Amino acid sequence: MSTLIVVGTQWGDEGKGKVVHLLSRNADYIVRFQGGNNAGHTVVFDKKEFILHIVPSGILEPNKKCVIGNGVVIDPKALVEEIKFLETKNIDVRKNLVISDRAHVILPYHKHLDQWREDALGGRIKIGTTKKGIGPAYSDKFARIGIRMGDYLDDKEFAKLLDSNLEDKAPILKRFDSIKNIRAITMAERKKILPVIKNLVVDTTVLLNNIVDKGKNVIFESAQGTLLDVDFGTYPYVTSSNPTSGGACAGTGVGPTKIDKVVGIVKAYITRVGEGPMPTELNDKNGKYLRAKGAEYGATTGRPRRCGWFDAVATRHGVRINGIKDLALTKLDVLDGIDPIYVCTAYKYKGKVIKDFPSSIKVLSGCKPVYKKMRGWKEKTYGVNRYTDLPKEAKVYIEELERLTGAKVAMISMGRSREETILKDQKLIDFKF
Ligand code: GDP
Ligand code: IMO
Ligand code: MG
Repeated sequence: MSTLIVVGTQWGDEGKGKVVHLLSRNADYIVRFQGGNNAGHTVVFDKKEFILHIVPSGILEPNKKCVIGNGVVIDPKALVEEIKFLETKNIDVRKNLVISDRAHVILPYHKHLDQWREDALGGRIKIGTTKKGIGPAYSDKFARIGIRMGDYLDDKEFAKLLDSNLEDKAPILKRFDSIKNIRAITMAERKKILPVIKNLVVDTTVLLNNIVDKGKNVIFESAQGTLLDVDFGTYPYVTSSNPTSGGACAGTGVGPTKIDKVVGIVKAYITRVGEGPMPTELNDKNGKYLRAKGAEYGATTGRPRRCGWFDAVATRHGVRINGIKDLALTKLDVLDGIDPIYVCTAYKYKGKVIKDFPSSIKVLSGCKPVYKKMRGWKEKTYGVNRYTDLPKEAKVYIEELERLTGAKVAMISMGRSREETILKDQKLIDFKF
């Protein structure tokens, strides 16, 4: 048995899609465990670009089984669009995908509520959400008024739950459309959706535990990143789920005794989309350079990503919370030619040095980064395929990140496609933990 959780250690967009696609070559199953179509995971292969939002990135590897776990919130309309899009690219999604009957659905009213919360500021905090209805769907789940995939398939049960939800939310929804229209749209969409997904919905907890017990290789693919985790991130500027490794168990029904390894994906610098504090954000030419060279624009919303220097305080927090021993470092090539490079080793708050990531948003907002200046390298790392062949300064940079975060860099990515990767630990791709 080899099971591997892949998590983002920053504010998302670390390159999870690329790394999961690479690792899925030797995996049997790839499982998404939280989030929804707020995620945008980019995979580049054969010179083609795919952006996956809800279907696990492993679907692009022929004959790999993919699972959308119970911890995910599914917009059935977006899911069907993604399935159909992938099928136009000759990817046989329906043969290889199953969906948890316990996953909650995102309905048109959740998107209205997301929009309303973001727009109707009235003293509230604007989060800068993707407006995909993620927060409202998870709110319903925890308020015990959500609708699960199994109920979505059942005509009578669905109508009953839909009507009680529409009644409950009517005062806000009426600002967008009549309840009658919202109901009619939801029902009409469902009619088109059911034939595509109804045979894919199963009890994935039984399936997953069986295949893990049979010794299959399984990847648990997170969306978002540790700093967007509802418990451990920059609350309230977070998403509404647990993208950290603990979320993989709750989001799939596979217990912690069956997990072998956790790999943290980390960018060689840091980015963030949406609102909220970001201590190492660069609003200067370096920030602009990183955005342009790293093509840092949201894969889901197209928004420009805020860019900054590597934040070791935040990554140490991610390493600790997720139980990470191995990191996959991505986008090292984006730093080629930048000299000097800065790494944030601690924060300064009201004259005091802080080494642990603060829980208070007020404190974090007042933190100033303490930087270590590092020498950059002139050579291109793009195209290098052995660790020893990397520029000396790049190796010093990587070793410093290992020292500061307390985890080993097991993989280094220097380009968008999977060939542009150095594996420092072959066991990772062979699933021999
Ligand atoms: P995810 O959400 O974590 O899967 O990451 P995204 O796909 O949203 O963003 C990562 C972006 O960086 C994508 O456009 C990837 O194709 C790209 N990318 C991944 N790894 C590398 C790398 O090592 N170098 C470069 N230049 N681009 C990369
Ligand atoms: P991947 O999986 C980056 C951010 C949004 C916003 C906050 C809450 O591609 O790394 P939400 O719509 O989830 O309620 O928005 O979270 N966010 C992401 N940022 N990458 C993502 O996913 C994100 N998913 C959500 O920008 O700040
Ligand atoms: Mg992304």
